Amino acid sequence: MSANSQKPQQVRIFDTTLRDGEQSPGAAMTLDQKIEVAELLDAMGVDIIEAGFPISSQGDFDAVSEIASRTKNAVICGLSRAGIKDIDRAGEALRSAKRARIHTFISTSPVHMKHKLQMGPNAVLDAVGASVTRARNLTDDVQWSAEDATRTERDFLCRCVELAIRSGAMTINIPDTVGYTTPQEYVELVRMLMESVPGAEKVVFSTHCHNDLGLAVANSLAGVIAGARQVECTINGIGERAGNAALEEIVMALKVRRDAMPFTTNIDTTMLARASKLVSNVTGFPVQFNKAIVGKNAFAHESGIHQDGMLKNVETYEIMRPEEVGVKETSLVLGKLSGRHAFRDKLESLGYDLSDEALQEAFKRFKDLADKKKHVFDEDIVALVDDEIVRGADVVVIKALKVETGVGIEPSAEMTLVVENEERSIKTTGDGPVDAIFKAIRELYPHTASLQQFQVQAVTEGTDAQATVSVRLEENGRTVTGRGADTDTLVAAAHAYVTALNKLLVKREKQVPEALTVAR
Ligand code: KIV
Ligand code: ZN
Repeated sequence: MSANSQKPQQVRIFDTTLRDGEQSPGAAMTLDQKIEVAELLDAMGVDIIEAGFPISSQGDFDAVSEIASRTKNAVICGLSRAGIKDIDRAGEALRSAKRARIHTFISTSPVHMKHKLQMGPNAVLDAVGASVTRARNLTDDVQWSAEDATRTERDFLCRCVELAIRSGAMTINIPDTVGYTTPQEYVELVRMLMESVPGAEKVVFSTHCHNDLGLAVANSLAGVIAGARQVECTINGIGERAGNAALEEIVMALKVRRDAMPFTTNIDTTMLARASKLVSNVTGFPVQFNKAIVGKNAFAHESGIHQDGMLKNVETYEIMRPEEVGVKETSLVLGKLSGRHAFRDKLESLGYDLSDEALQEAFKRFKDLADKKKHVFDEDIVALVDDEIVRGADVVVIKALKVETGVGIEPSAEMTLVVENEERSIKTTGDGPVDAIFKAIRELYPHTASLQQFQVQAVTEGTDAQATVSVRLEENGRTVTGRGADTDTLVAAAHAYVTALNKLLVKREKQVPEALTVAR
């Protein structure tokens, strides 16, 4: 991807949901879930998908390589530190990509160089040149990042950027790694680099802003105003600590305020709500109700004065139409008598393209749901299908569950799990039915993870509503979140726990080797 092939006002969207997003405490995705997310990002028009950090685990390597071989349009990017092994591993994972990018980074701030890398500025400079050169031997499309750039001494940053450009980097990323900068300061930094570094005119500058002070989107937009033409962001703003700039907010700010920021993106904004729901489901991270663009309340008007204004003219209180971001009026969709054909049509209209096998399974679950629930809404279908996608190829699967509870009865759970094709059954009692269920799971599949959070939410209104339960587990500093949806809250709780457990098994293997052999 060359800087020249981009229209001057075009901003590239670089999505890092599958890499920085997946680094969020509690977020972990299986291979199938990552593929599902990548397919949606590609269909939505994301320019570059950072699919993972290949050296960090076999799981990340497989995800990058599988996504690379399947993706039709987007550039697929793999992250690597400045080490030879890292870069080569990223190159190997990207081998089957139509368009591959290696993203190599090293810290440049005094605090990172001294305490994290234990390297002096000259050694870091050597590593910049050698790592970019190594990556350029594997692909033409190389991105270089100065980790903690916003806390880096300016002259040193200029020298690093200049060397990265001379060594062949086509994209220069200026991360606000710790979410410390302000919009004004970031404008000045990007402008200064673009104006003073030799060769800057040949490359695309990129923003990568974290949200520790809630400024990630504002800082990213400031970077664009200063001249950056790539924004790194994630769906729902997930990412390390307080997260990254939210893709949906960046894209809609650029679309709605084109008068103030005359830039365009390739994103089909009508897919934003769907992407947000999918990422929330596969990571188990709920979207806060008042989240801009994709929150449940983002287009809700509660007060009488607002409702009155809206009835007279929607522009009184709406700066964008909900349909523009893919939010549709809740509609009564299907019932007990709806057939497979109608169900498939409905799924298509909601943006799903399921395999025959997955459709069969989802249809079976829809029929069960329609038996239990009088009105089935779009949200119910989304919760049900996403729950199906989440379950994927799991090591631990629930085969049967019977729960007894009530006044004067000791709550108990009778459960059968299938663990790698072997059936295991038990009956347990507990302080409540949920406690009994979780105890049963722990007995049938012993593990040391502790329960950190248990949350229940209704998908729609009414006592027959489906519940989504989210469960967060922690083991040796690794956290994962699982979600389950069902009209029976206890069944949803069991699925949420087992989903979290399956994710923990994925995450257990993920570990970045500590020792970094820096390229020379
Ligand atoms: O926040 C950061 O600096 C990063 C880099 C790896 C780009 O995520
Ligand atoms: Zn980051």
